[in-house]
Amino acid sequence: MELFEAIERRHSYRGPMLNEGVPRSDLVRIVQAGIQAPSGYNAQITTFVVVDDADTLARLGAIDPQCGVLQQARAVIACIVPRGPTPGDSRLFFGAEDCSAATENMLLAITALGYASVWLEGWLRLGNHEAAVADVLGVPKERAVKVLLPLGRPARVESQHPKLPWAARAWFGRFGGEAP
Ligand SMILES: Cc1cc2nc3c(=O)[nH]c(=O)nc-3n(C[C@H](O)[C@H](O)[C@H](O)COP(=O)(O)O)c2cc1C
Repeated sequence: MELFEAIERRHSYRGPMLNEGVPRSDLVRIVQAGIQAPSGYNAQITTFVVVDDADTLARLGAIDPQCGVLQQARAVIACIVPRGPTPGDSRLFFGAEDCSAATENMLLAITALGYASVWLEGWLRLGNHEAAVADVLGVPKERAVKVLLPLGRPARVESQHPKLPWAARAWFGRFGGEAP
């Protein structure tokens, strides 16, 4: 799939998944797209755990039976960052930014390969969800689980949430300036 088509087709999918697993060769390509994202100081502090076995998927799903996307997921990719500063400058914390760059790369790769997913981050911040996920995945206390990507082959055709028009969000020259 061409890059701009993947950007347009990527959407947050929370519907049912087909009952088929995601081959490891595809999971490796998806995570490789995350590994290749830019990072502050090129410190490459993002790490990833890929879950594709039924037992661990069920343990993740059991954390919150209301979280439908985790119940449906045929695989889950967790993006993990250190809680401390970025190596290279103790004043800078680039964990969120690095994780976001990796996450978008992975979402585009997921789309390009015909899978669907959703950026699951707000859910992690609520209740004790992050701690429970970290426990299931064996993540050390000094690292944070920032994002989960539950994925699979979508059983429904859906599309990206509508976006505001270019003119409402972008200008040439100065804020509020010229339209293209
Ligand atoms: C930082 C961030 C956190 C998000 N957290 C969640 C979440 O916890 N649960 C969820 O269902 N969607 C979550 N989303 C997905 C957004 O709801 C979604 O991107 C938005 O509604 C726009 O829809 P689109 O992805 O189809 O363009 C998150 C997205 C971002 C960027």
